[in-house]
Amino acid sequence: MKNKTILITLTSALFLTSCAEKVPQLGKAPVDDIIAAMTLDEKVKLLIGTGMAGLTGDSAVVGETKSLVPGAAGTTYPIPRLGIPTIVLADGPAGLRISPTRENDPNTYYCTAFPVGTLLASTWNTELVEQVGQAMGNEVLEYGADVLLAPALNIHRNPLCGRNFEYYSEDPVISGKIAAAMTKGVQSNGVGVSLKHYAANNQETNRMGNDSRVTPRALREIYLKGFEIAVKEADPWTIMSSYNLINGVYASESRDLQTTILRDEWGFKGTVMTDWFGGKNAPAQMHAGNDLLMPGYPQQMTDIVEAVQNGTLSEADINTNVKRVLELVLKSPRFKGYKYSNKPDLDAHAVVTRQSASEGMVLLKNENEALPLSASVRKVAAYGITSYDFIAGGTGSGDVNEAYTVSLVQGLENAGYALNAALKVQYEEYIEAENAKNVPDPNDKYAMFMPKVRPGEFVPTATELNKQAQSADVALITIGRTSGEFLDRKLTGDFELTNEEQELIATVSKAFQSLGKKAIVILNIGGVIETASWKNTPDAILLAWQAGQEGGNTVADALSGKVNPSGKLTMTFPVKFMDAASSANFPVDSVRNIDYTIYEEDIYVGYRYFDTYKKDVSYPFGYGLSYTTFEYSNAQLKNAADVFTVTIDVKNTGKISGKEVVQLYASAPAGALGKPMQELKAFAKTKELKPGESETITLTVDYTDLASYDESKSAWVTDSGTYKLLVAASSRNVKATVDAVVAEAKEVKTNDVLKLK
Ligand code: BGC
Repeated sequence: MKNKTILITLTSALFLTSCAEKVPQLGKAPVDDIIAAMTLDEKVKLLIGTGMAGLTGDSAVVGETKSLVPGAAGTTYPIPRLGIPTIVLADGPAGLRISPTRENDPNTYYCTAFPVGTLLASTWNTELVEQVGQAMGNEVLEYGADVLLAPALNIHRNPLCGRNFEYYSEDPVISGKIAAAMTKGVQSNGVGVSLKHYAANNQETNRMGNDSRVTPRALREIYLKGFEIAVKEADPWTIMSSYNLINGVYASESRDLQTTILRDEWGFKGTVMTDWFGGKNAPAQMHAGNDLLMPGYPQQMTDIVEAVQNGTLSEADINTNVKRVLELVLKSPRFKGYKYSNKPDLDAHAVVTRQSASEGMVLLKNENEALPLSASVRKVAAYGITSYDFIAGGTGSGDVNEAYTVSLVQGLENAGYALNAALKVQYEEYIEAENAKNVPDPNDKYAMFMPKVRPGEFVPTATELNKQAQSADVALITIGRTSGEFLDRKLTGDFELTNEEQELIATVSKAFQSLGKKAIVILNIGGVIETASWKNTPDAILLAWQAGQEGGNTVADALSGKVNPSGKLTMTFPVKFMDAASSANFPVDSVRNIDYTIYEEDIYVGYRYFDTYKKDVSYPFGYGLSYTTFEYSNAQLKNAADVFTVTIDVKNTGKISGKEVVQLYASAPAGALGKPMQELKAFAKTKELKPGESETITLTVDYTDLASYDESKSAWVTDSGTYKLLVAASSRNVKATVDAVVAEAKEVKTNDVLKLK
C-alpha cells in the first residue's frame, strides 16, 4: 500500500512537471509561442495597466505591483504562469517621481529635481542634456522602475499653456534634438523613456476632451516634427499618446497617428501607451496601435474582450499589441532581474543638476556690465517672496519629491554674500503667516497636486527702502511663477505682473539706482511672462527658469561670475500676450470655447509668425547675452551628396571665458506654398572659449530638412532655387549669410492622413 502511494505521488509529480515544461516562459521561448499560449483574458490583461494607487474600488492596484515602487504612476500586469513580470512606469520629466517615504520603513527615497525642460532646452547643449538623462535614468534604474514617463516635447504654441515648463520650445527642431539627447541619456542605463504627449497637446484647459483642429501641414511641420526627430535619432522604448483629439479623433484612437505615421512612415519599433485615463474607446485604441492602456480600469477589459468576441476587433490586432508589450517587458531591468540598490548617488546627481542649470539660464539684460557682481559687492538686499521660497520646478506629474531646494538666499549665503538680516526676517515671517492662511486640504488629493497658492508681494515703505539701499551693495528682486498640469496659466497676475510686482521692481530699483547701486531682477519662472513694460527699469535681468533643487546655488554661480550664463531663449517673449498668433485661439482664463481649439495660425507659431510678419517682440527666439562677446567670421558653404555644410569661426572677443550658441536658419525661395521668413534648421554650442580663443563650428542641413509639407500632394517638397542659410546669434541677429542652391526639386510622398474636416 505504501509503495503504491509513493508511485502515485511520483507519477503525478512527473505529470505536473511535464505540463509546466510545456508552458512557454518569456525570454526562454519565442514571443510568438508565449502569445499562442495566452488565453484571451491574459492577453487583454497585459494590455491594460493594473490600476492606480490611491484610487479605490474598480481601479485599485492589483496584487504584488502595489508594493514595488510606491508613488510610481503605474504598472503592467504580471502573468507568473508565463514568466511575465510586472514592469513599473514612473514620471518624469524633471526627475523620477516616486514617494519619498514608505510605510513602516525608516529609509527615504528622494530623487533629484533636475532643471525643468524649458531650462534644459535653453542650454542648446545636447551633450549636456544627454548627461542629465544619464543621471536621471540611473535613478530610474536604482529605484527599481523600468520606464521614465519623459521627455515631454509638446510645442509651446502659446505662452499660457500650464505645462510649457515641462516642454522644450516653440520650435520643433530644438524640441526634437533635445528630446533625442534626453532619450539617449536615460536609455543608456538600460531603462526606457516614454516620449509624450503625442501629439498636439498644447493646452491644459479641457485637456481630455479638447479637439485640436489643425492642418496636416502644421501637424507635420510643427507638432509632429520633434517626435519624428526623436524617434528616428534615439529609438525611444515607448511613446505616450496624448489626451486630446486631433481633427475629431482621439489621439490614442487614431490609427493614422499611432500606426500609419509613427510606425509605417517613421519606423518606430516600440510600444505606445495612453496618457493616464486617456481616450474613450478601448477597442479603437487597440486597433489604432495604442498597445497599452494606462493606468487601466476593468471596463476597458470588458470592452476589448467583447469586441474580440463579437468580431469588431480582430485577435490579430491585439496579438500585435501584446507582442509589443512583451518586447517592452523583455528589455526591462525587472525582467532581467536587476538588483537595484535603492541608493542612487544623489550627491553626484546634485552636481549634475547644478552644472546643467547654469548653462540654461538666460541673461536677458546686462546694462553697464551690472553682472557679474563686482568683487566689492558683498551685502545683498533680497526682495520678492520667491527669493526666500525658491521654485525648483512645476507641479503635477512633472514635480519631483526632492530632499531639498536651495533657495536664492541660501545660495547667496553659500557663496559668501551677506543678506540684509532684517529684510530676511521680514520676508520669512510674512511668508509663514500667508502660507498659514492657504493650507491645502490634506484630504483633497487633487489640491495636493495643484500649484500652491503663493503669497502676494508687499512693497517696503520708502523709509525702509532708503535704509536698505544705504546698507546693501546691490538689490536682487525675484519674480516667481509656478504652474502645472490640469490648468493653463492666467493672463492677469501671471503672464502679466501684478501691480505689487511692478511697484516692487520700480521702487526698489529707484532707491538703489539713486545711490549709484544696481538693481537686478531674477526670473524664477517656468514659462513666458510679460517683460516689455518693466524691463527698462532694472540694471540686469537674469532668467533663471525653474532650475531644480540646486537652483539658489546655480543662480549665485551666475551672479558671482563663477559661471558665465550661456543659455538662449527657445521661445519668443512677445510684447503683449495678444501679439502671439495663437492667442486669438487660446482659452484665456477659460472664458472661450473649450471643446475645440482652432490652430488658425497654422505653421506660423512663435518666431515663424513674429519674424515673418515683422512684429516687435520683447526678446526674440534664440536670444541670450553673455558676460563676454563673440565675433563670427569666415562663413563657408560646402555642398555634397544632398547635404549643405556650413562652417563658421566663432571667437571670444571679451575678457571672460564663455560659450556661444550658434543657430542656423534657412530662408526658402518663393514657391507654391507660403513660407515663414526663416526656420531653424541646425544649431551648435561652442566649447568654453577663453578670451581670444576661436572655434570653427560646423552645421549641416540636408535637402530634406529644407522641405515643406504640401497637402495637395501629400508630400514633403523641397523646391529648387536659392536658399539663404543664415548663421545667427538669435533669430534677429544674423551674423553671416550663404546662398545654398538646390538645383532640382525633391519630393517625398507620405500617406494622406489626419485631414482637417
Ligand atoms: C500626465 C502624464 C503623466 C501621467 C502619469 C498624466 O496626468 O498628463 O504626463 O505621465 O499623468 O502620472
